[in-house]
Amino acid sequence: MAAGTDKTLNAPVVLVTGASGQIGVFAIPRLLRAGFHVIALSRKGKPQGYADFEQVEWLTPADDSPLDKHCEYLLSAGPLELARGIITTGKRIRSAVIFSSSSVMTKQKSADPAERQQVQDMLKLESELVSMAENRALELVILRPTMIYGCGLDTNISRLAGWIRRFGFLPVNGKAAGLRQPVHADDLASAAVSALLSEVSLPRNLVLAGGSTLSYADMAGRIFSALGKPARLLRLPQWLFILLVRGIRLCRPALGVSGEMVRRQAVDLVFDDRQARELLAYKPRPFEPSAKDFSFPEPP
Ligand SMILES: NC(=O)c1ccc[n+]([C@@H]2O[C@H](COP(=O)([O-])OP(=O)(O)OC[C@H]3O[C@@H](n4cnc5c(N)ncnc54)[C@H](OP(=O)(O)O)[C@@H]3O)[C@@H](O)[C@H]2O)c1
Repeated sequence: MAAGTDKTLNAPVVLVTGASGQIGVFAIPRLLRAGFHVIALSRKGKPQGYADFEQVEWLTPADDSPLDKHCEYLLSAGPLELARGIITTGKRIRSAVIFSSSSVMTKQKSADPAERQQVQDMLKLESELVSMAENRALELVILRPTMIYGCGLDTNISRLAGWIRRFGFLPVNGKAAGLRQPVHADDLASAAVSALLSEVSLPRNLVLAGGSTLSYADMAGRIFSALGKPARLLRLPQWLFILLVRGIRLCRPALGVSGEMVRRQAVDLVFDDRQARELLAYKPRPFEPSAKDFSFPEPP
């Protein structure tokens, strides 16, 4: 159904970027239940097998029409650059919730120059967005989630699950004792909708962590359980694991694995999300995944 028809005439219109991604697919039904008409932006279009919601229009960033749709709300679950471009041209937008990442706080001193550059770029984009909001009447909140999982589209937990399914064991860095707080994409979607609807003024940044704080090794153990497999961790010395990863990186650069990822398994990546819990009634689920959290959501 197109925006502007009888049924949707008075519904507020929200533009969702990264609509086909892990946060987007959970956010759309929540936005519909909250009474929004949704313009879903994706270069590929509606994902195969995803629900055919009547009040959702799927458009590509190449369409010049998304911003002609009277969008007053933006939920950015895609790249920050895309959000900046939309806010620059979308003068009607008065409320924007933008996903960034908690890695802007943890990877600034990474030994990997590419990671350092990536977080510098993200921080620059975040501060440009904040300046834009301050120069016009725009409510803006930047959400910084930890490691995301929930529908098989992530490259962390689901990648580990894929490896475990295939090989039945997982190499880890020694005790792999670094703490993690994996967060379900649907909990992030819920927080984003609360932020869009919030009647209180929100801080510019809010961290969103998961409902469990557990070691990398325990996190891996729960992935084995979700897949119905006995936990088999191959505990390698850090130097050996890094050497192996360097070899893999040379042969298969597209896999994106690095020595820094191995080192981080021994480092705590823990955040305090009390502000989000208080201001957004954010209540993330504990990390007790089942196999369905590694596959695409069924249509309702
Ligand atoms: N993955 C994590 O664990 C993690 C952790 C913390 C924070 N974050 C942040 O959370 C947000 C969502 O994360 P994610 O991993 O779900 O993101 P993602 O997979 O990188 O992007 C989500 C969707 O955005 C679209 N997209 C990607 N690049 C694009 C481009 N250049 N132009 C237009 N559309 C593009 C893609 O859909 P189409 O191909 O259909 O266009 C993709 O499915 C991002 O801001 C990310 O930085 C992620």
